[in-house]
Amino acid sequence: MVVDEQLITKCRTALSFAAGQLRHLIRAYPDFFPMYTHAGKWTHGGEVWTNWCEGFLCGQLWLLHRYTREDWWRERAIHYCRLMEPRKADRNVHDLGFLFWPSWKRWYDLSGEQDVKNVVVEAGRTMGLRYQERGRYLQSFLSADSLFIDIMMNIGIVFYAARQINDENLWRVACDHCLTTRRFLVRGDGSTAHEGIFDTQSGEFIRQSTQQGWRPDSSWARGQAWALYGFGTAYACTGDAHFLQTAQSCADYYIERTPVSGVPPNDWDEPHPAHPYESSAAAVAASGLLNLASLCGDVTQAQRYHGYALRIIETLLDPLFLASNTPGWEGILMHGVYHERKHLGVDESVMWGDYFLLEALLKVIGEIKGLDCT
Ligand code: GLY
Repeated sequence: MVVDEQLITKCRTALSFAAGQLRHLIRAYPDFFPMYTHAGKWTHGGEVWTNWCEGFLCGQLWLLHRYTREDWWRERAIHYCRLMEPRKADRNVHDLGFLFWPSWKRWYDLSGEQDVKNVVVEAGRTMGLRYQERGRYLQSFLSADSLFIDIMMNIGIVFYAARQINDENLWRVACDHCLTTRRFLVRGDGSTAHEGIFDTQSGEFIRQSTQQGWRPDSSWARGQAWALYGFGTAYACTGDAHFLQTAQSCADYYIERTPVSGVPPNDWDEPHPAHPYESSAAAVAASGLLNLASLCGDVTQAQRYHGYALRIIETLLDPLFLASNTPGWEGILMHGVYHERKHLGVDESVMWGDYFLLEALLKVIGEIKGLDCT
């Protein structure tokens, strides 16, 4: 699809700015994996809530290697990937896809090295161990009765592992998780609940809930972005049209509810939010919509998703959001939110916001394609 030359130039300028910010980050704080800034600085003693962000630093380094072809970025990416390798066996989080897809999977796609692929497969298998047979979902890091919408972003690595090792049971686990999430967390209007609570004995679904949104029945914007991206991934991995249809309903809801800028608040339903923007949701949505544009067969819909993604990117490249005119700010994208209720990373840069912005920029300039689930 056609992209205006002026926007391509803006994307390239933003990528140069991002390279400078990342060079500073790894020189100023060697071997440190940040999660969110505090007053624009990556180091602080703030709580993490859960530990899920290492892959986003590695992923940004791989994307910059891809963009610049410079070995320096490749060496840095490999160094940071090696530091996080032990997480492949981490059974305490539901984030093995967030951890290993932007990092080791990008490494494998570029190198084709079997040892690198083995790490991605092991991470996918570890993720599969979270399966709750009775409720048919992969449990969140909080407890066995909890299912999060975010886990849809970690399902691609489970499908991938299952396919590589020809494990039918692991494939079934991944499919079940998507179907359960679709049934209980995606609502009739395409909005999503953040969390579902189940009876672990019977497997019965009990209620919708939220951790990072406003209310159990409201719509947390980043969860919506995870859903539209994650169900698109599930479709790319399986070819099951139900998942494409769900991804599209989630995308349509995002588009219908968001102001013309393309950047939502933390939760669309919260009255009088303290901050107007959750820019990381917009970055995730932009990248996910670019995937959907290449996945959905309907040309009109594809153009709509592509056009809306470009609108989000135009907005995020404005100095209101891009930190290029904010001296001393260490992140790339400002006005993100991590956890509003816990007051963690509110109106700050967040590692996944920076990563998904870069991913979207490389798609817009044609350097990378949508999803490679093979
Ligand atoms: N833990 C995923 C998120 O905060 O969106």
